[in-house]
Amino acid sequence: MAHNLLKGKKGIIFGALNDQSIAWKIAEKCHAEGAQIVLTNAPIALRMGEINKLAEATAAPVIPADVVNMDDLKSLFEKSTEHFGGKIDFILHSIGMSLNMRKGKHYTEIDYGFNQKTMDISAMSLHRVLRTAWEMDAINEWGSVVALTYIAAQRVFPDYNEMADAKSLLESITRSFGYHYAIKKKVRINTVSQSPTRTTAGSGVKGFDGFINYAEKMSPLGNASAEDCANYCVTLFSDLTRMVTMQNLFHDGGFSFTGVTAEVIEQMEK
Ligand SMILES: NC(=O)c1ccc[n+]([C@@H]2O[C@H](COP(=O)([O-])OP(=O)(O)OC[C@H]3O[C@@H](n4cnc5c(N)ncnc54)[C@H](O)[C@@H]3O)[C@@H](O)[C@H]2O)c1
Repeated sequence: MAHNLLKGKKGIIFGALNDQSIAWKIAEKCHAEGAQIVLTNAPIALRMGEINKLAEATAAPVIPADVVNMDDLKSLFEKSTEHFGGKIDFILHSIGMSLNMRKGKHYTEIDYGFNQKTMDISAMSLHRVLRTAWEMDAINEWGSVVALTYIAAQRVFPDYNEMADAKSLLESITRSFGYHYAIKKKVRINTVSQSPTRTTAGSGVKGFDGFINYAEKMSPLGNASAEDCANYCVTLFSDLTRMVTMQNLFHDGGFSFTGVTAEVIEQMEK
């Protein structure tokens, strides 16, 4: 059931690749809650054409932008503000890519060239997006920016590899830029730390099936779905959370604060 929580708001959604993507569910939910949105992704991801279905369902234009290309980002913000006839109220950063994982490189033997690209695409890209918006003064006062992250930034999950470092950096940029943007324009910036979710990026993690089942058993509420994540992000884009900024917000069914569950103990006793 929709509540019109985003009525009159305008947002840019990065990272909807296919209908498994968390960003896809968030775009649908923002539209249902009354927002106008622009969809964007890397030109190579758009070539698959999947996004056109989402664009149609949400009445959104699709504007290509490689998130590590400053000219692309400038053009994205120019075209978006032109399309909306005004500034932006919210941004979703839902982007992750590990080149070393893709190439099957173990954490102890990463290629540093790949690593730089991973950091740029998965973490510094948030700085790039915010800086572009900052320089163009493209976000309205009390605007809201959310980036998706994972608890491997705080705790070791061996097969999460260099993405753990990327997520730590992403969360740090959230705090640092969050400070400056709050002072300048009252714009808030947070990360949402989501449960493991079956998506293209998620399934790229080695041993993902074991990983997601373990998290399910270790979370008192069970794993949070992409749809649940979309609901949570809507609240963060809405005016109901105006004083929340610079936070890493766990959205994981209680996983982050659970030491052990009865279900896991039972398994260990077998
Ligand atoms: N799936 C999970 O288990 C999980 C858990 C916690 C957090 N997250 C995070 O959620 C976010 C979204 O991932 P997802 O699981 O929905 O997978 P996904 O593969 O659907 O989304 C990743 C997106 O990043 C985009 N991208 C990659 N390189 C880009 C570039 N250079 N420019 C612009 N876009 C680019 C891809 O095209 C894709 O749309 C990521 O930050 C991911 O780390 C995922």
